[in-house]
Amino acid sequence: MKIFLDTANLEEIARGLDLGIVDGVTTNPTLIAKEGRPMEEQIRAICEMVEGDVSAEVVSTTAAEMIEEGRRLAQIHPRVVVKVPLTPDGIKATSRLSKEGIRLNVTLCFSPAQALLAAKAGAYIVSPFIGRLDDISADGLELIRTIVRIYANYGFKTQVLAASVRSPMHVVEAAKAGAQIATLPLKVLEAMFLHPLTDKGLAQFLRDWERAFQEVGARG
Ligand code: E4P
Repeated sequence: MKIFLDTANLEEIARGLDLGIVDGVTTNPTLIAKEGRPMEEQIRAICEMVEGDVSAEVVSTTAAEMIEEGRRLAQIHPRVVVKVPLTPDGIKATSRLSKEGIRLNVTLCFSPAQALLAAKAGAYIVSPFIGRLDDISADGLELIRTIVRIYANYGFKTQVLAASVRSPMHVVEAAKAGAQIATLPLKVLEAMFLHPLTDKGLAQFLRDWERAFQEVGARG
């Protein structure tokens, strides 16, 4: 499973990359806006740091504008994957741009029917949002399972990217379902390390080691 960071913040990206297990980055207009720098500059800076896919989202809403904006975004850097919303215009833009060899991440996917449309349009990635579904008492992980099953039935090449991830268990369940990618806020990635038995076990090993060497030192 590939692990992406869901942020446009360069410091967070640097911290994540330092771990050596980050395969890419996803951004969205909200995340880019937080950084207060022109989109193109921020995306280029991210692409120069990361050796993997970097999703950059369009902000236009008609197919014609999305096609034009998507082409512009794709020119920023070869690592850019153009993100479009799962609307009829977004699907039209996906069909068109994917035929031009541009890679598309179809985002804001909340149903299996929508995911089927993204695959039919030739999307490189589809982004079903787990957390936002859970927030309204629906089952985000069940959506991931269903999409993975539908794509396998027909051999669609579109990768399933688990988005809107809020906890390590979201990542584990998405991995069990067979999602190819999960995109995580840095704090969720850092939470994946945590286990009290790891801390307790390490403290014990170090205590025992120190005690043994202190005793050898005292005897010898
Ligand atoms: C990813 O591509 C999405 O933009 C992101 O995961 C949304 O997450 P949120 O629901 O926490 O905003």
